[in-house]
Amino acid sequence: MNYKRNILITGGAGFIGSHVVRLFVSKYPEYRIVNLDKLTYAGNLANLKDIENAPNYEFVKADICDFETVCGIFQKYGIDGVIHLAAESHVDRSIKDPFTFARTNVLGTLSMLQAAKHCWNGDWDGKLFYHISTDEVYGALELTRPEGVPSDISAHMVYGDEFFRETTRYSPHSPYSASKASSDHFVRAFHDTYGMPVIVTNCSNNYGPYQFPEKLIPLFINNIRHRKPLPVYGRGENVRDWLYVEDHARAIDLIFHEGKVADTYNIGGFNEWKNIDLIKVIIKTTDRILGNPEGYSDGLITFVTDRAGHDLRYAIDATKLHRELGWSPSLQFEEGIDKTVRWYLDNQEWMDNITSGAYEKYYEDMYGNR
Ligand code: NAD
Ligand code: TYD
Repeated sequence: MNYKRNILITGGAGFIGSHVVRLFVSKYPEYRIVNLDKLTYAGNLANLKDIENAPNYEFVKADICDFETVCGIFQKYGIDGVIHLAAESHVDRSIKDPFTFARTNVLGTLSMLQAAKHCWNGDWDGKLFYHISTDEVYGALELTRPEGVPSDISAHMVYGDEFFRETTRYSPHSPYSASKASSDHFVRAFHDTYGMPVIVTNCSNNYGPYQFPEKLIPLFINNIRHRKPLPVYGRGENVRDWLYVEDHARAIDLIFHEGKVADTYNIGGFNEWKNIDLIKVIIKTTDRILGNPEGYSDGLITFVTDRAGHDLRYAIDATKLHRELGWSPSLQFEEGIDKTVRWYLDNQEWMDNITSGAYEKYYEDMYGNR
């Protein structure tokens, strides 16, 4: 079959990538979607069970750092668009092992760019290299309005007077954000130096189904279910902006098709939460759905040593994306959290497979010889 487009999505077996792959495979049967993923501890093909047999979907187990293999994939499938999500993504791991982050996020992105440049060979017509990045590259904001406490879950709180805009100067603090900042610069350098058509987007914290349970929301839902302590870093005063992952995937779809080449868009939920308030919402929602009495799991909250260099506040101004392309988040936080908690409680097997390590063996058996 002749496909209208051949799109390479990297990191498609991860959290956000699996939602992007699912959206593209189901919405665009006229496109071939090639998912390139190394299946690190964070990659899980169970995230894509529902579309794995779709005729327009291909999975390739490979490392983005392996330039020769990536070039082979470009050639074999006639790739004309890249949506690059593959990365090491957890700040705490980056503090323990920064080298792996530099390898995958910096050198891996460079290898992807070099492969695209090599294979497209100066013919940029109809091509796009779309790089997915984070708001953490901008650094941290102050809490200039720290007193606000949401009276209910739908209340929209703003904890400061400043926001990250597309023009905000990069100031990464963690090894994770430093590696992502570096990769963003390389992507823009390939446009400015060679003329490669690129787009970069920087998004705030995502939440929703299929997130690896080392991240705050799935970790806490699982711990509440198993009556384990909920480790709150520092005093829980840090603020994050949260976006439902399917809204991010929708933004990626829109920007891939209608975004301006060489431009940058911030993506965010207009939804700031202090960690401790968010954690109370997670506890309340999980207890309600499990049928526990109100306050049943409050005692699981355990304040622990703060993360080194813990960024105080992230807040995205996503009005450019709204103004220019008409995107806005579709889900109220109340609805998003409810859906998310229900999903993790209903998919205990998915969670158990990860937490028991069984999935690693499954991959080795399935894909070890490819
Ligand atoms: P994730 O950790 O859930 O998934 C990463 C995926 O990349 C995994 O499937 C993993 O196997 C794959 N991968 C890692 N190293 C690889 C390599 N060398 N070669 C090939 N594949 C490799 O991450 P996520 O949370 O889905 O994030 C995806 C992207 O979005 C990342 O680039 C991240 O920086 C960015 N981002 C994430 C968030 C968030 O809240 N999670 C917010 C903004 C931006
Ligand atoms: P996380 O989900 O790791 O995302 P990020 O560090 O990229 O923002 O953490 C979200 C917030 O929750 C962050 O401020 C750190 C905090 N946190 C805890 O307090 N305890 C935890 O166990 C984890 C994983 C995170």
